[in-house]
Parts: sequence; C-alpha cells; structure tokens
Amino acid sequence: MQTRKITKADYDEIVQVIDRWWGGPISTFAHPIFFYELGDNALIVEHEGRLVGFLLGFIVFKTPKTGYVHLVGIHPDFRRQGVGRLLYEQFTERCRSLACERMKAITTVGHEGSMRFHEALGWRADEVEDYAGQGRKRIVFTKTLPGAAGASS
Ligand SMILES: CC(C)(COP(=O)(O)OP(=O)(O)OC[C@H]1O[C@@H](n2cnc3c(N)ncnc32)[C@H](O)[C@@H]1OP(=O)(O)O)[C@@H](O)C(=O)NCCC(=O)NCCS
Repeated sequence: MQTRKITKADYDEIVQVIDRWWGGPISTFAHPIFFYELGDNALIVEHEGRLVGFLLGFIVFKTPKTGYVHLVGIHPDFRRQGVGRLLYEQFTERCRSLACERMKAITTVGHEGSMRFHEALGWRADEVEDYAGQGRKRIVFTKTLPGAAGASS
C-alpha cells in the first residue's frame, strides 16, 4: 500500500463515498477547504490503483504546536489491515519533522471503532463536556510526541 498527497480527483471520489464509508451522512466534514488548503497534510492510501483510505490533517501553530487529524476514513473492505495505522504514522512523522509537540483528534461519544483505534495507537482519550457546544461532549484524543513537553487539550 502506498500513501501520497491527495489530488482533486481523490477529493471528488471521497465526497462520493464518504457517507457510505461512515454508514451515515457526514459529507459536510469533507468541506472543500480541506482539499484546497491542507496541501501536504491531506494524504490518501492506494491499493492497486484504488483509493482505500484518506487522512485530512493540519498543523495548529498555537502552543503546544499540534498536528490535528480532522478526518480519517478507510474503505469498509480494507479495515483492520493497517491502513489507518499507516496514515497516522505518516502524518505523525510529518508533524514531528515540523516540530509539533503533540497530536490531536476528536470523535463523538460512543464511536467505539475510533476509540479502540486511537487507544491501539497509544493515544490518550478524555471525555470533555460541552466541547462542541452546550450538551455536546466529545472524546478528545491526544498523543504527546517523544521529546516534547506534556500535552493539554
Ligand atoms: C477507525 C478507522 C479509521 C480504523 O482504520 P483501520 O485501517 O481499520 O485501522 P487499522 O487496521 O490500522 O487498526 C489498527 C489497530 O486499531 C485497532 N482497531 C481499529 N479499528 C478497530 C475496531 N473497529 N474495533 C476495535 N479495534 C480497532 C486494532 O487494535 C487495530 O489493530 P489489529 O487490527 O492488529 O487488532 C476505520 O475503521 C474507519 O475508517 N472507520 C470509519 C470512520 C471513522 O470512524 N473515522 C475515525 C473518526 S473521525
């Protein structure tokens, strides 16, 4: 499997498949800003020329400098084959090379697959009340990068 920078054709395909991959409407999360503005922080994985996973991330320049994973999605037929891990490793490596001190992502409460995935990769999970507005708690995942100071949300 290969990772590479996303292209417009990849983005167009993601917009078409994303609701199916998630099993529900989520296409607003793939806003065009994440293709046009993320540059090298948006990655895809191909298998035999087929799009099987993507990661949309960016760098947060406030302290602590953070690599943020906005959205990661793996084709349902290619889950549990290390595609998500590969994308996270590549993006984390990029963030480390750009002097990020930690990584961050969020998910909704009860999203067990995402919880187990982040735990398996050694990320910390904290439930934060009102994170996305009143009554809208979220799970905030963080991972301190080696050599960096402690993480905070
Ligand atoms: C969550 C998701 C990104 C994981 O991607 P993946 O390619 O299947 O994950 P990997 O194969 O790299 O898994 C690495 C490890 O994470 C853990 N893991 C991943 N998915 C899991 C699941 N559904 N249940 C339990 N553990 C899981 C396992 O320990 C796994 O290692 P193993 O397969 O050797 O046991 C993928 O299931 C997905 O796209 N889900 C729908 C979208 C989503 O939830 N995105 C994340 C939140 S925005």
